[in-house]
Amino acid sequence: MSDSHSDPSIRFTLHMLARGGDSDTFAEDVRAGLGSRPRFLLPKYFYDGLGAQLFEAICRLPEYYLTRAESEILGQHSDEIVAAVCGPVRLIELGSGSADKTRYLIEALLRRQKELHYFPVDISDVSLERSSEELLHVYPQLRITAYAADYFTALQALADAGVIERQDKRTIVLFLGSNIGNFDEEESREFLRAIRNMLHPEDGLLIGADLKKSVDVLLAAYDDALGVTSAFNRNLLVRINSELDADFDVRKFEHRAHYNERMGRVEIHLVSLVKQTVRIRAIDLEIHFEEGESIHTENSYKFDLEQLGELARQTGFSLEKTWHDSAQRFSFNLFAAV
Ligand code: AVJ
Repeated sequence: MSDSHSDPSIRFTLHMLARGGDSDTFAEDVRAGLGSRPRFLLPKYFYDGLGAQLFEAICRLPEYYLTRAESEILGQHSDEIVAAVCGPVRLIELGSGSADKTRYLIEALLRRQKELHYFPVDISDVSLERSSEELLHVYPQLRITAYAADYFTALQALADAGVIERQDKRTIVLFLGSNIGNFDEEESREFLRAIRNMLHPEDGLLIGADLKKSVDVLLAAYDDALGVTSAFNRNLLVRINSELDADFDVRKFEHRAHYNERMGRVEIHLVSLVKQTVRIRAIDLEIHFEEGESIHTENSYKFDLEQLGELARQTGFSLEKTWHDSAQRFSFNLFAAV
């Protein structure tokens, strides 16, 4: 008997667990972040409906080389990449977004197995609905169980559902796009250990990680000429205005990208252009900004191969193989569970 079915809706399940996306947590996190010094906001909140679309626009900018570099690697090497994990497999993706690049791997897998069960996880339920509909239409051999959730909530849900206990298949976990760059060192280790805990030896974790390079190239990628990244960043304030009844004047905050050499990360900030007071009515909070005061909204860590090998060893994996794009800007890494 086959799972494939011509009606895509029968092959689709969506679990809405968007903890960390829901309004109570958002309000609490905004209060905590804007109340601390230095002030910060968590990058997972970028991805409301508009934010997810602005990120897709970023991926098409000439300066934002990451997406194209990773696509090049997947386009060139997807057969070899999936061959590194013996089949048949199920596929889990953390932060699936538009899932455009995932298609290379799905196609490579469907060249060697008849059917595939794909488990995308994303903070944006809109992205999950849209990408799943497209994938199910294009690939009749695909079944999708999607989780609208933050990473840790989804890992717990996957574990509770016993997805990985079924040992008839190996598991491949995808973590693309240098999403890992949002974590600091300790958070990365914690996250990879949580993934490793639900895997079995010889399962594979595929991690796309952006590489250290010249500061000019890095900064251009995070401060593009069209101002799309600025809009993506400032949209966080638009979101707080609409969801938490706040009165940020978005024009009075400027996007700033900065390379923190010591930490090996690009930081993006929202800098107050004037001395001003903002009210966030839903949480009964008033914030005073000095001119030039910043809200730290994101870190994007950049890696070298040594760091990635070390990270693998510290978390129960071995760095089995690394692929690069032709310009060596980006790395795609197979972490094998040991
Ligand atoms: C989706 C976290 C990988 O850090 O490069 C792009 C997000 N922020 N431009 C990154 C982002 C500003 C992106 N990640």
